[in-house]
Amino acid sequence: MQQLTLTRPDDWHLHLRDGAALKVVLPHTVRQFARAIIMPNLKPPVRSLADAAAYRDRILAAIPAGKQFEPLMTLYLTDNTSPEETIAAKASGFVKAVKYYPSGATTNSEFGVTDIRKCDRVFEAMQQVDLPLLLHGEVTDKDVDIFDREKVFIQRYLIPLKQRFPKLRVVLEHITTADAVEYVLNANNIGATITPQHLLFNRNRIFKGGINPHFYCLPILKRETHRQALVKAATSGNPKFFLGTDSAPHTRTSKESACGCAGCFSALHAIELYAEAFESVNALDKLEAFASFYGPDFYQLPRNTEQITLNKSTWKIPDEVPFTESGLVPLNAGQEMTWQMV
Ligand code: DOR
Ligand code: ZN
Repeated sequence: MQQLTLTRPDDWHLHLRDGAALKVVLPHTVRQFARAIIMPNLKPPVRSLADAAAYRDRILAAIPAGKQFEPLMTLYLTDNTSPEETIAAKASGFVKAVKYYPSGATTNSEFGVTDIRKCDRVFEAMQQVDLPLLLHGEVTDKDVDIFDREKVFIQRYLIPLKQRFPKLRVVLEHITTADAVEYVLNANNIGATITPQHLLFNRNRIFKGGINPHFYCLPILKRETHRQALVKAATSGNPKFFLGTDSAPHTRTSKESACGCAGCFSALHAIELYAEAFESVNALDKLEAFASFYGPDFYQLPRNTEQITLNKSTWKIPDEVPFTESGLVPLNAGQEMTWQMV
């Protein structure tokens, strides 16, 4: 196959940051995607409907002239989020979900929830108005091994949560394990996003020839059997699994540090990375639905009507793209790609 034409995709999990960083990263996403679910983990986080409205305006103002893009906003759940705030968010029309971060799990999660059971009144309201809950599905207990955090979260918190709120629509974000795939396959009212890094790499990549901080993200890459389970899920044609890059830009200096930040930047070449992953198992015919159909179907939004084209053509991922104080290193920088969006 030499050319691939797809309905324009959407990114159902994206970090755009704010200020100068937002202005630099947004054009990359706008080039490939029509819409994106915007993560609320700013400093301070997007906790209220008013915060979300103001952030949305800043994103709209940063869209390059003449381009179309729709930011789909989320609220950051805290111990103090009120049920009324989520009801108002749903009524606004532009807030599409509420994001749960366990306190201390990842970048800017210090305002996150200390005990998910404290939020039951909010979940009750969200279930009532049908506002989806997006989960960073990891436990943060220091006694749990970092590679087991997702699996333990499912057992300890997600299964009980779904028993308490069976109709609450949930997205288990950036799944990384065979355990998550199996859980999602067998539960109701649940979807899952899958990132390019978790489809393409296993945890060996973090340590190949030395420590490679640009492959460090959370949840962390897992062993090869898990990667294979994710590829199988993404390419299965099951509508529960859809595209969410988790593109999470950090400056080169904050990644290449004694205590480097978690996050992979993939907005530059996201759809090509997914194409490589799907092609590796001869499943390019399954890419369009994963990238462009199942996400809007889950969120009950219309599918896009425009198309994009990818050509079979070799190019090198740049070592760095311009960012703020220091550059931004794209996922798999310096390596060859065989698909290129035109
Ligand atoms: O690797 C990650 N980076 N995981 C997250 O959950 C947050 C993200 C970020 O905001 O940098
Ligand atoms: Zn994320």
